[in-house]
Amino acid sequence: MKQKILIIDDDASLRRVLEYNLQEAGFAVTAASSGEEGLALFTAAPYPLVITDMKMPGMDGLQLMTSIKSLSPGTLVIMITAFGTVDIAVQAMKAGAYDYITKPFNRDELLLTVAKALQLINVEAENRKLKEELTDRSDFRTLIGASPQMEKVCAIVRKIADTDASVLITGESGTGKELVARSIHSLSSRKDAPFIAVNCSAIPRDLLESELFGHLKGAFTGAVRDKPGKFELADGGTIFLDEVGELPLELQPKLLRALQEKEIEPVGSSHPRKIDFRVIAATNLDIEKALGEASFREDLYYRLAVIPIHLPPLRERKEDIKLLLKHFCVKHGAKKVAFDEPSLAAMLGYSWPGNVRELENMVERLLIMRSSDSLTLDDIPDKVRASGPAKASGKIINLPEGGYPLEKLEQEIVTEALNRCSWNQAAAARFLKIPRHTLIYRMEKYGIIPAKPLPEHESGKE
Ligand SMILES: Nc1ncnc2c1ncn2[C@@H]1O[C@H](COP(=O)(O)OP(=O)(O)OP(=O)(O)O)[C@@H](O)[C@H]1O
Ligand SMILES: [Mg+2]
Repeated sequence: MKQKILIIDDDASLRRVLEYNLQEAGFAVTAASSGEEGLALFTAAPYPLVITDMKMPGMDGLQLMTSIKSLSPGTLVIMITAFGTVDIAVQAMKAGAYDYITKPFNRDELLLTVAKALQLINVEAENRKLKEELTDRSDFRTLIGASPQMEKVCAIVRKIADTDASVLITGESGTGKELVARSIHSLSSRKDAPFIAVNCSAIPRDLLESELFGHLKGAFTGAVRDKPGKFELADGGTIFLDEVGELPLELQPKLLRALQEKEIEPVGSSHPRKIDFRVIAATNLDIEKALGEASFREDLYYRLAVIPIHLPPLRERKEDIKLLLKHFCVKHGAKKVAFDEPSLAAMLGYSWPGNVRELENMVERLLIMRSSDSLTLDDIPDKVRASGPAKASGKIINLPEGGYPLEKLEQEIVTEALNRCSWNQAAAARFLKIPRHTLIYRMEKYGIIPAKPLPEHESGKE
């Protein structure tokens, strides 16, 4: 594609010289005869390079440059100045011109200056592209989190990434276990070798052994050729054993041996093969409980959990919610989207049983359905909105799924009212619209007393 250049000069003959020389050198040239006309053309479609005469009736070169730079800071401007006006040229450079040429100039001088400018433009464009790619890649591999819990996780990840220690990641579904595993791999010196993920609960029991360790031709009916297992595919890299808590008991000794000896034996073979792998395992089961019930071998557990990493559920690290919202908006190409305060409050109040995955899915859906870039309570799903401030749903309280004792509720309401009224009983009674003796009765019934004793004159008096 031809490089675009905009030239502006009120002198018709000079304009034609410029146009002719640049066109002949292979550029796509647009010419304007005044600053105003040039700016109109530039506003319609910006140019990476502008060559303008300095002195023109009406809008001069300096004014034009100021407008162009405010529209497109990356555009380079070359000034044409009259012979003997070096101080004016210096002034133009100070104001942001890339370079200047003095009239009269020859063709080579012009083309050299233009070539230099275009070289810079291309280098800058290249840099920008690289930078964008880089942030794209690093951003969506990295773990987002501002909470102390996530900071701790990130610190462990950084510290242990470039070792061969086995890692066991625990956490509820959707907390980011696989993402942590991938981050560890990509921060390690194995990063250019494969990361092979195996979901131990998704593969039928009788196929799992050959999936993991491979098999030889004829090892069992249907084994028509040799097949490498996941461990072999992960040679030099990392194997991620997802849902390891579901690994059948009878396979556990074989996995333990593979981890200890760093060698595997394909089904139907009696010759072990040496393999260089690092293992990262994950489970959303309470693995300690599985240990107690003897459905998971203790020796295997200790072998896997050299470095244990626990990912707390999202409801226990609400500080991460805002950051994750921003991250997922950017990830799904909607940088400008913002949430208002009530909708944020609702999201902070919600329990996120599906954790980060649920949040990401919600954001994706909202971005598709949205009619503007400012999202409010009306945009977010009902179940999330129900956790918002009272006025959101028109209700004062939202009861938990599993039910709630009325007495406890009453106790909480009375305490809250007293707190709001600085433990002034008469004021609290008025607030609850009950007689004062009813309030005192409730306080006695539930044993409600101020957290710290009040000075004599405040307790109970108006
Ligand atoms: N801290 C985080 N920062 C950015 N994205 C995250 C974070 N945690 C989770 N995610 C994203 O949430 C989604 C679910 O994460 P992931 O698949 O790692 O969860 P998981 O714990 O493996 O879930 P499951 O147990 O259901 O397999 C992914 O798209 C992941 O990129
Ligand atoms: Mg997972």
